Amino acid sequence: MDKRIAVLSGDGIGPEVMSGAVCVLQAIADCFNHHFTFEEGLIGGAAIDEYGTPLPESTLKLCKESDAILLGAVGGPKWDSVSNHIRPEQGLLGLRKELGLFANLRPVCAYEPLIHTSTLKKEVIENVDLLIVRELTGGLYFGKPSERRGTNKELAIDTLTYTIQEIERIVDKAFQLARKRKKKLTSVDKANVLESSRMWREVVNRIAKNYPDVTVQHMLVDSASMQLIYRPEQFDVIVTENLFGDILSDEASMITGSLGMLPSSSLRSDSVGMYEPVHGSAPDIAGKNLANPLGMILSASMMLKFSFGLDKEANIVEEAVMKVLIEGYHTTDLNLQHGTQVGTKEMIDKVIEAINENQAISGIQYAYI
Ligand code: IPM
Ligand code: MG
Repeated sequence: MDKRIAVLSGDGIGPEVMSGAVCVLQAIADCFNHHFTFEEGLIGGAAIDEYGTPLPESTLKLCKESDAILLGAVGGPKWDSVSNHIRPEQGLLGLRKELGLFANLRPVCAYEPLIHTSTLKKEVIENVDLLIVRELTGGLYFGKPSERRGTNKELAIDTLTYTIQEIERIVDKAFQLARKRKKKLTSVDKANVLESSRMWREVVNRIAKNYPDVTVQHMLVDSASMQLIYRPEQFDVIVTENLFGDILSDEASMITGSLGMLPSSSLRSDSVGMYEPVHGSAPDIAGKNLANPLGMILSASMMLKFSFGLDKEANIVEEAVMKVLIEGYHTTDLNLQHGTQVGTKEMIDKVIEAINENQAISGIQYAYI
């Protein structure tokens, strides 16, 4: 298989974790005779430094011409002082919008070897396997007007807008995903206060009729945030609007023990997708070989599955990550008392070793598939 992959490392720990994804994908390509072309583009703060804009035309063009996009992280204090109008985050948001990546999938599951690293009790998290489906191109993030007004700019305005079509497509996507899993969909909104949430609920109820095999429940976002740490195993697929999804996914990451573990994919209706870890640029640990590359590596594995249909290869990456964790290797973000603490680079090497070992053992089987 021949694929063009745009590589946008971004800022902070972005380049370090990205090197993990690229090396792992290269190892997979070598094992299975695929040909992946990696082409780099600037985004976020790195692009502001070079071009004065967080999303240069050249990067957008590269992404539009690629089969899939890998993104590290954007932002950092260096660009906080720059005028409010040019922020690294706009590069990421612009890319999501320009490419129409409306469906953000954020899986959260309790990894057996990491159960003790969570601040939550073992019995609360041990059976968790949930998927947050976050609407990614609407809501407060993109609503107009969004501005400061008044003589002294004393009034700040952000607008929460959703069209019925925007809600329909994300809700439908969530139903399709629920159908392939445990057939339970929780729609999270704030329908007791927000008009857009009431429309959201109506759409969910209407689309539910097309999926009689999926059980649907509505949950208010404040209650959902409580339920997520009270009884997280009750959830299968959670569908929610942009900002609620942003907040709930960071909260849910604590089930895995570290935000550094969480991958995500941002999809539209064709196979093109953008894959990025849920964590941010972590400027405090950037360049210190401390970052956890597993969220980024697992994002690359989602790319293999969702954009390229390479399920077997994706499973090998996931198995390799699991093997490394079972062997006790962990980066500093994972609060493990036992095992071996390693740096970013060593963690990447361990995953690649595990991929190669797996392939050596099952090479004959895969050679004929
Ligand atoms: C995320 C991040 C982004 C978001 C930021 C960096 C703009 O927090 O992907 O969750 O809010 O969507
Ligand atoms: Mg976030």
